[in-house]
Amino acid sequence: MSETAKLRIGDNEIDLPVLVGTEGNRVMDITKLYAQTSCITLDEGYANTGSTTSQITYVDGEKGILRYRGYPIEELAERCDFTETAYLLIHGELPSADELEDFRRNVRLHTLLHEGMKTIFAGFPRDAHPMAILSSVVGALAIYYEDALRPNDPDHQELAIYRLLAKMPTIAAFGYKQSIGQPFIYPENHLTYCQNFLQMMFAVPSDRYEADPDFVDALNLLLILHADHGQNCSTSTVRMVGSSTVNLYSAISAGICALWGALHGGANEACINMLEKINNDGASIGKFVDRAKDPNDPFRLMGFGHRVYKNYDPRAKIIKGVCDRLLKKHSVASPIFDLARELEEVALSDPYFIDRKLYPNVDFYSGIIYRIMGIPKQMFTVLFALGRLPGWIAHWREMHDAPGGMRIHRPRQLYTGSSQRKFVPLIKR
Ligand code: ACO
Repeated sequence: MSETAKLRIGDNEIDLPVLVGTEGNRVMDITKLYAQTSCITLDEGYANTGSTTSQITYVDGEKGILRYRGYPIEELAERCDFTETAYLLIHGELPSADELEDFRRNVRLHTLLHEGMKTIFAGFPRDAHPMAILSSVVGALAIYYEDALRPNDPDHQELAIYRLLAKMPTIAAFGYKQSIGQPFIYPENHLTYCQNFLQMMFAVPSDRYEADPDFVDALNLLLILHADHGQNCSTSTVRMVGSSTVNLYSAISAGICALWGALHGGANEACINMLEKINNDGASIGKFVDRAKDPNDPFRLMGFGHRVYKNYDPRAKIIKGVCDRLLKKHSVASPIFDLARELEEVALSDPYFIDRKLYPNVDFYSGIIYRIMGIPKQMFTVLFALGRLPGWIAHWREMHDAPGGMRIHRPRQLYTGSSQRKFVPLIKR
């Protein structure tokens, strides 16, 4: 017999069904709570709210486990490339050789941007943040590619998905080229996804360019590690915005905006800024750790802490290893990396961080790898967005294709404002 939870409110006692996930997690289903009791639940910041059921990604924050479609992140990072991972997330299964080739061919087919879109880039100021550019131009895809906007039409879905996967790297690289005054480098479809992106970022028409294979591998790995993470802020945004049945481009554009914030994807840029600040300040780590611990100081250690992980972030573990290898192989002397290591050591032995289970997260070391690769700081979160794109798409699709149909997302609230008041005319205020 299935388990229920009993809830008593006043004289009213009701049974709440308890659902059990694949990994044994128990969840109280409160869907009928309002109808049965006229009560809603309150959970600021959704720390304890399951907004959906999902078959895409499993995260166990206590044990430090992350799996995409059942496959451990460590195995995917070692054995897959990013497009294969994207296929897995979006379609739910690892592709056969033919399926993978077909998927890659379709992505390659759409890498160019409509020529008219170049005028959008030209209108942006030189110092525009690349995340603002990315969200604007991805939003503009709905203007230039109007032939595939219907979210419930499988053919439109498929075309919009290929276009986004193919065009986001081109948009990201064009935004960068515009900001440094270099000509756009068009995609070259004989290259792999990651080679192509680095080519569009760093090649110039006057010189030969070949991406360093170590950097191609590092980028591939970082994109895989960022590809999905359950109902995080940006993914929930994509689902929330998408639930109004708006087109995929608009939902993804909203997700990019959500990712930009320093408490989410923007933490990779904020983390390097923080390390540079500590370095310029004479490397006084203790002072910054004390500030982070001071409840009256808003300063936080960027790249530390996570809503779900109360253990070492498994992605950070992998990234740290790659970071070490790259620094050694490319003989990069980086005071910033030394500082990061020292900061991690200090923080992990401090009772404040131990008690609150604050460990380095995915953003703590990723910025250092990007730096070694020559990626400018402002582009770090853009690369996070390129990685997270398949996850956003997978969640958007899962929501639209849900067997029971999709409902618009519409949380309620506990109203704490004024009771009804008498209107005061302007002249008497
Ligand atoms: N530095 C110092 N103290 C911290 C930090 C930090 N980075 N993170 C959390 N804390 C403290 C809080 O002050 C709080 O202390 P208190 O209990 O004494 O009040 C306690 O730890 C719990 O913190 P919350 O803010 O309740 O944790 P929440 O789950 O809401 O926030 C978040 C998670 C936003 C990631 C937070 O840890 C943070 O701000 N980290 C820095 C930014 C960052 O690295 N973001 C990237 C996250 S990963 C990603 O999005 C890809």
